Amino acid sequence: SQNIYILGIESSCDDTAASVLHNGKILSNEIATQKIHEEYGGVVPELASRAHQQNIVPVIHQAIEKAGIKKEDLSAIAFTRGPGLMGSLLVGTSFAKSMAMALEIPLIEVNHMQAHLLAHFIEEDGFEKPTFPFLGMTISGGHTQIVKVNDYFKMEVIGETLDDAVGEAFDKCGKMLELPYPAGPIIDKYAKEGNPKAFQFPKPNVKDLDFSFSGLKTSMLYFLQRETEKNPNFIEENLIDICASFQYTIVNIILSKLKKAVKQTHINRVAIGGGVSANSGIREALQKTEKNLGWKTYIPKFEYTTDNAAMIAIVGHYKYLNQDFTDTSVSAKSRYRF
Ligand code: KG4
Ligand code: ZN
Repeated sequence: SQNIYILGIESSCDDTAASVLHNGKILSNEIATQKIHEEYGGVVPELASRAHQQNIVPVIHQAIEKAGIKKEDLSAIAFTRGPGLMGSLLVGTSFAKSMAMALEIPLIEVNHMQAHLLAHFIEEDGFEKPTFPFLGMTISGGHTQIVKVNDYFKMEVIGETLDDAVGEAFDKCGKMLELPYPAGPIIDKYAKEGNPKAFQFPKPNVKDLDFSFSGLKTSMLYFLQRETEKNPNFIEENLIDICASFQYTIVNIILSKLKKAVKQTHINRVAIGGGVSANSGIREALQKTEKNLGWKTYIPKFEYTTDNAAMIAIVGHYKYLNQDFTDTSVSAKSRYRF
């Protein structure tokens, strides 16, 4: 049998990541997270590309070393072409091109959003791979999509957000609650201790399988303004209940659209991906729905939810099997639909 070693490189946002897979199994999965953005309450593109520039060589070096291989053993290099921040993508793209040229091995471009869904195909003991067709839901800081996945590279977006991404809603509302960036995981932590029915936020009225989160953001803003006028310590005194109620609203929005999608497509296999799929409320709600409605749900291992390079490498693996290689004249694509 063939020995396929794929190096994956991810640099689309604020994480510089590299991973080596051997026949689809992880040998290493390295990540350098950029702390600098915390101070600014969000990702600053200029600072992100500079940090990628600094991190990319050590991270790739580490990934190859931890994998216990030599760079000459690599079969191909897979990299994130887009979507993402242009300055960030350029660093990974240029590096991947140069390295593939130097090693004289194939280069493979990867769509970041496809990778979030195909992360489910990383060879992992105790994890079942989805069978086609399935519904994929990508929920991250930049995207909110329901995707009909007919095959590895036959995907169709059947619903998406008309404004903010769900992760953005977490982060922006978190900022109003004076939580550090990214607020998603912190809201999740507080939500576990709070009462989800303490406060009500209106559910957006969006047609079909599309989403909207900007209204929720606005109603949170007005709600907090109104309450802190009456009691300046309102946020402090009610933080866990606000977080629990906000998360409850988001979980309901997502689950009701997923139920609609299952009804419409008659596909009841549902896989989630992207940073927000780490959310405990969403995970629990999906597991409950699996039980109650007989769905089959696929929830990724925690480390494959937020941005990582193993998901880029697994896409590289499947494209390698298809001999689907990319010319070194390729350029990064900040808006990249599949
Ligand atoms: O996929 P990702 O790492 O980067 C993008 O491609 O955007 O997603 C990052 C997003 C951030 O908005 C972060 O707040 C959110 O995922 N996030 C969470 C949780 N963990 C990360 N949101 C809610 N609950 C979590 N546990
Ligand atoms: Zn992502």
